Amino acid sequence: MGKGKLFILAVWIYIETFCTVFSFTDEEFIFGNSTINSTDWLTDFSDIESKFALRTVEVPDDDLCYIEPGQAESIIACEFNVTAKTFVIIHGWTVTGMYESWVPKLVNALYEREPTANVIVVDWLHRAQQHYPTSAAYTKLVGRDVAKFVTWLLDVLDYPWDNLHLLGYSLGAHVAGIAGLLTNSKVNRITGLDPAGPTFEYADAQSSLSPDDANFVDVLHTNTRGSPDRSIGIQRPVGHVDIYPNGGTFQPGCDLQKTMKMIVSSGLANMDQLVKCSHERSIHLFIDSLVNAQDHQSMAYRCNNKESFDKGVCLSCRKNRCNKLGYEINRVRSRRSTKMYLKTREMMPYKVFHYQVKVHFFSKDALSLTEQPIRVSLYGTHGEKEDITHVLPELKTNSTVSFLLTTDVDIGELLMVKMGWDKDSYFGWSDWWRSSNFHIRRLRVKAGETQARVIFRAKEGEFAYLSRGGEPAVFVKSKEDQATRKQERLHKRKMHGSSFKKETV
Ligand SMILES: *[C@@H]1O[C@H](CO)[C@@H](O)[C@H](O)[C@H]1NC(C)=O
Ligand SMILES: *[C@@H]1O[C@H](CO)[C@@H](O)[C@H](O)[C@H]1NC(C)=O
Ligand SMILES: *[C@@H]1O[C@H](CO)[C@@H](O)[C@H](O)[C@H]1NC(C)=O
Ligand SMILES: *[C@@H]1O[C@H](CO)[C@@H](O)[C@H](O)[C@H]1NC(C)=O
Repeated sequence: MGKGKLFILAVWIYIETFCTVFSFTDEEFIFGNSTINSTDWLTDFSDIESKFALRTVEVPDDDLCYIEPGQAESIIACEFNVTAKTFVIIHGWTVTGMYESWVPKLVNALYEREPTANVIVVDWLHRAQQHYPTSAAYTKLVGRDVAKFVTWLLDVLDYPWDNLHLLGYSLGAHVAGIAGLLTNSKVNRITGLDPAGPTFEYADAQSSLSPDDANFVDVLHTNTRGSPDRSIGIQRPVGHVDIYPNGGTFQPGCDLQKTMKMIVSSGLANMDQLVKCSHERSIHLFIDSLVNAQDHQSMAYRCNNKESFDKGVCLSCRKNRCNKLGYEINRVRSRRSTKMYLKTREMMPYKVFHYQVKVHFFSKDALSLTEQPIRVSLYGTHGEKEDITHVLPELKTNSTVSFLLTTDVDIGELLMVKMGWDKDSYFGWSDWWRSSNFHIRRLRVKAGETQARVIFRAKEGEFAYLSRGGEPAVFVKSKEDQATRKQERLHKRKMHGSSFKKETV
């Protein structure tokens, strides 16, 4: 069997294991015989199996001090800081029964950002190491453990609930949700990092993470491929703000080719780590937001779906339509979940700059083409990004096209744009094509990060010409752009300043 086939087989087995359909229906298995309506159970610590370690800046990678529910002296022993914020990290399903390498990384990043904070790691490794459906069912018990723990901790210290932030990854996101549901005060914030999909996609709000579980619930979806009940990450929105980086399905740098290379160099033993690349990206995006906030804050944009986002039509920041990804997110709560999108790089810092390019293609000939490769170069006051490749799904005579481009460098204010039409290498087109071209008068670019809109016109003459395999068309910032903006401002002032106008509306 070739390496490729072996890989696919391994991935398949992994996903099968992960996705085996949840079959427990016996509520008693989950809840025992206690009734949930009474809150007495909250103070019964006898059945708590999870452990709660307060990690330190000095030793972020080991559980050296456990806070034990009911034992106030353990709070003092672990040097819990009652005036600082508290983060509770909840891991997900594990094949090895050990903490994964992201745990100390997240602990470190939280301490880097909030040096005096209390970063607590929930250890439910034993229950998380079972057959996936069993571990998935255990989220209810672990959620109860966490609810009891935080309720006791906060009550005994008279500690403000507003300082409590739960962060859960995969199954841990649902644990956080269940914990938030069961506490008698509201948890301030829950961050769901690619909440697990199998057995939760169609589950009710009580059994999975949902907006009711905290004052604010933000969610990153990074591995939502395939049919809903087979997707490793949950596909439906489960928070107040649900962000789908790169469409949420699959993350850059996690492709088969790259994974294959890693397998060749590090062996099949790391298979589960490699397969989880996209799933775990949610954590690294959050870490990025903690440590690279100064210059590399990623922005996400509200959009109905991935397809619209890829057309570049969602780069608006009006009325909370854009938000910061990760730690610094603005708490926007609407009745329905807000779905947001962005693109990222394949490594940290993940931030890219988003641009919508809108262009009208004129032609004498009636052309209608699909899947046309183009190449755009952007030049700005700080730098440039050349040869960004893009495939236009449709290129038709006398039609306007809008698409999204991204750059990983900050090019500043845009000054010049070049656009070339690549030869399609697959087909040997006849000479007929050489005589065919489009001409473009203007090109509009909107920058998501700065919200600037710039109109470009052909550098020479009224039109710039675009021919397949030919020289790129060159556009420069249009003077009429400024005039237009001034007019727009004047217009706005007129609209808002006149009471006469209001009456007629
Ligand atoms: C609940 O279960 C415990 C032990 O499993 C048992 O001692 C107790 O009587 C049960 N309580 C009720 C109300 O069934
Ligand atoms: C809980 O529910 C049971 C039956 O549903 C009821 O008899 C009991 O009074 C309730 N307890 C509280 C504290 O609401
Ligand atoms: C506890 O946290 C507060 C607020 O962040 C900080 O000012 C103080 O120095 C911390 N105390 C200790 C002992 O770290
Ligand atoms: C496209 O529009 C231009 C001007 O609006 C016109 O001259 C030209 O004939 C049109 N092309 C086709 C194929 O209809």
